[in-house]
Amino acid sequence: MTNKLDPWSSSEINDYSKLFEEFGISPFDNVLPEIPSPHMYMRRRVIFGHRDYEQIAEAMRTGAPFSVMDGFMPSGKVHLGHKMVMDQIIWHQQMGASAFVGIADREAFSVRGFSWQKCREIGVEEYILSLIALGFKPDGLIYFQSGCESVKDLAFELGVKVNFSELSAIYGFSGETNLSHMISVATQAADILQPQLEEFEGPKPVVVPVGPDQDPHLRLTRGLAGKMSMFRVEERENANGEKYLSVRGKGAPKEALQELKKRIPAKVKLYEEHIDVLQTPDYAFLERIGLQISQPEKREYFMTQIQEIAKFANEAKPPEFLEYEKYFVFRRIWKTTRKILEEVVAEVAAEFEGYAFIPPASTYHRFMSGLQGGKMSSSVPDSYIALTDNPKEGAKKVKRAKTGGCVTMEEQKKLGGKPDECSVFELMLFHLLGDDEELLEIRQECVSGTRMCGSCKQLAAEKMYEFLKDHQEKRELAREHLDEYNIIYKK
Ligand code: TRP
Ligand code: SF4
Repeated sequence: MTNKLDPWSSSEINDYSKLFEEFGISPFDNVLPEIPSPHMYMRRRVIFGHRDYEQIAEAMRTGAPFSVMDGFMPSGKVHLGHKMVMDQIIWHQQMGASAFVGIADREAFSVRGFSWQKCREIGVEEYILSLIALGFKPDGLIYFQSGCESVKDLAFELGVKVNFSELSAIYGFSGETNLSHMISVATQAADILQPQLEEFEGPKPVVVPVGPDQDPHLRLTRGLAGKMSMFRVEERENANGEKYLSVRGKGAPKEALQELKKRIPAKVKLYEEHIDVLQTPDYAFLERIGLQISQPEKREYFMTQIQEIAKFANEAKPPEFLEYEKYFVFRRIWKTTRKILEEVVAEVAAEFEGYAFIPPASTYHRFMSGLQGGKMSSSVPDSYIALTDNPKEGAKKVKRAKTGGCVTMEEQKKLGGKPDECSVFELMLFHLLGDDEELLEIRQECVSGTRMCGSCKQLAAEKMYEFLKDHQEKRELAREHLDEYNIIYKK
């Protein structure tokens, strides 16, 4: 069976490695060292994959503008699964991102048949109050899709570049699929691209934290980012297999093309071979590229980057330049050049009313399992904990949850428990225990048979009670301060 990811029937994904191969999602481990102080979900491998997160990590390190964007379909109760996403939005916001949260009422209207009024009630009462209670800052934008003109306009424009065959390939849409459902898909792509519109200071890296079931939306949107852009910066290969960067402007107005030619290096061709030149070390070639950049600040930026790389190369050089160092130097130069090109291209596009979207980045987190094992399901209240559950009831659900322990104590002492198949451990891992050491200790004790499930349940139930109580107080506070937030409702 192929692993088709369908965001509307969240099929269980038991083999994450397939995602890496089939859809080009990269393991998160690769970028982890580049992130200043990684979120708990990152350290604990709850976030296991990403696309293009390097650019987000870089923006966090350098203070360059970037955004975090996410959407929630107002479908029912807000629960711990939503908290995972909200935590990530808020964390990125704290790390310097401008934050955008869309309440996907168009999706709920078209897929679930909810009225606008119901969408608004659920949107505010469930999602927005909890988002704010968890720490969302008032400078972020929260909007209902149906109230946001720029998203609706962009969705319509994006629609020109999507056809039915594509939608049926990505989502399995058929002749039965209603038109509004398709429009809601375009709207979602518009949600994701909106932070890059001129009214929000133009192109920038945007990260969308999601579960793997939402990946189809990202694939569609990343494709659209390219199709909508006036120019495209592409990595190409010549006949000798050497890589170079080039800018394409198919369909762009002549004047825009002329302007572009004025501003960028006549021919930016960067071949891996030039690394050998670097060993000499002779940067003449790179300086020649740099000097062709007509705007002074950009030229200066490029030149300082090259100098830094030169410094690194000089230090690493004698007695011989290792392969990986060579590669490192090459990547740095490549990235710097690409960045300059993208900036120039974005400026020219904006001057000629065109777009220059950067394909959105994403992270992928593991799903929580149901408290009784199996899947979380909104129709089985005992399988999940809602953020609005009565704290006592929440604690009771923890006590009733399925663990990875053995049937008898004797057996467990002898064989140990299985924390990886234990929903109580999962609650601690995902939500309740902030201290990595403590968590590892529990794990160790469990595996070695010195810990019994009763003590985990007791601990987790207490923490759950406290969390829910505190969260619900904060929700009431949020309700009182709602008008201090930047929220766009349907007119
Ligand atoms: N489809 C998402 C859901 O089912 C909601 C959503 C709307 C979304 N717009 C988005 C998610 C943009 C990520 C990014 O909950
Ligand atoms: Fe889970 Fe704790 Fe029991 Fe281990 S001891 S199976 S972690 S509840």
